[in-house]
Amino acid sequence: MSARVPLILDVDTGIDDAAAIALAVHSPDAELLSISTVAGNTTIENATRNTLDVLDLLGASAIPVYRGASRPLVRELFMAAYAHGNNGVGGAELPKSKHPVGDLRGPASIVHHAHTRPGEVTLVCLGPLTNLAIALNVEPELPRLLKGLVVMGGAFWTPGNIKPLRHAEFNLYVDPEAAKQAFDADFQHFYAVGLDVTHEAPISADVWNLILASDSAPASIIQALYRSRLEHPERGTAYIHDAMAVAAALDPEFISWAPHAVEIQIDETYRGQSRLADGNRVLVAREVDALAFMTRFYDRLGIQQRAAGA
Ligand code: BDR
Ligand code: CA
Repeated sequence: MSARVPLILDVDTGIDDAAAIALAVHSPDAELLSISTVAGNTTIENATRNTLDVLDLLGASAIPVYRGASRPLVRELFMAAYAHGNNGVGGAELPKSKHPVGDLRGPASIVHHAHTRPGEVTLVCLGPLTNLAIALNVEPELPRLLKGLVVMGGAFWTPGNIKPLRHAEFNLYVDPEAAKQAFDADFQHFYAVGLDVTHEAPISADVWNLILASDSAPASIIQALYRSRLEHPERGTAYIHDAMAVAAALDPEFISWAPHAVEIQIDETYRGQSRLADGNRVLVAREVDALAFMTRFYDRLGIQQRAAGA
């Protein structure tokens, strides 16, 4: 087998962040070094607690968790209780991990791992980019120290998910000043995985039934987290945005990428909007082979696919 991909995750766990953590833990081609947390979907306390609890349930509590930024660089924290519940995991009562958080703070942990293995580590950001902006501020060499950066964020050709105008995607909307710093920096291998592709792989009724019929540890976690959302009589569509970014960090081939510069809007009217511009700093996800992604997701997480016609 080829060498594993060294990853560090930055998360605001978060229902789909939990699914992404499960995918990273259960991917034999990933070497998950650490996870930092950031306020976004929920408070930093909840995001950190949820991350520790999910790792415990996955039998992966040896992976260090570092608590990061509790609020955006400039703005008040805007959270997504409407999608992730008040506790960030859809109201699920997860068994409490006894594992402590790591000694470093989130941004310091990113800088630390980048220095420990220069040019090797890929950072996957699955929440607002606050920790990344702070890390960039204190370590301007970060773009050269990391091998790559994958951001779940943006809506480039399709509408965003911030109502009422749907002009922006959540992670970039929450901390647009941080997002602007990240997208203006010169990272090598910078991939942006936006709603244009993550909305192509929803948890449809069929997908949910496959998850419900599976009894692997990750399938059970996903059942617990998505249940309140998907079994609500007025269920909206639910997604696994963040897991697609992890899959792209391990093997970007199931997505087609368009090179662009990306301008993040920080004015109030267009807060967090991601606009394409001429340039090639960022590879922006344009189209996805959703079947290839879902097949990988099922395989890794022990979700049983029924044989055709069964
Ligand atoms: C992103 O926003 C969050 O609610 C999800 O966890 C994901 O990272 C999708 O817009
Ligand atoms: Ca997230």
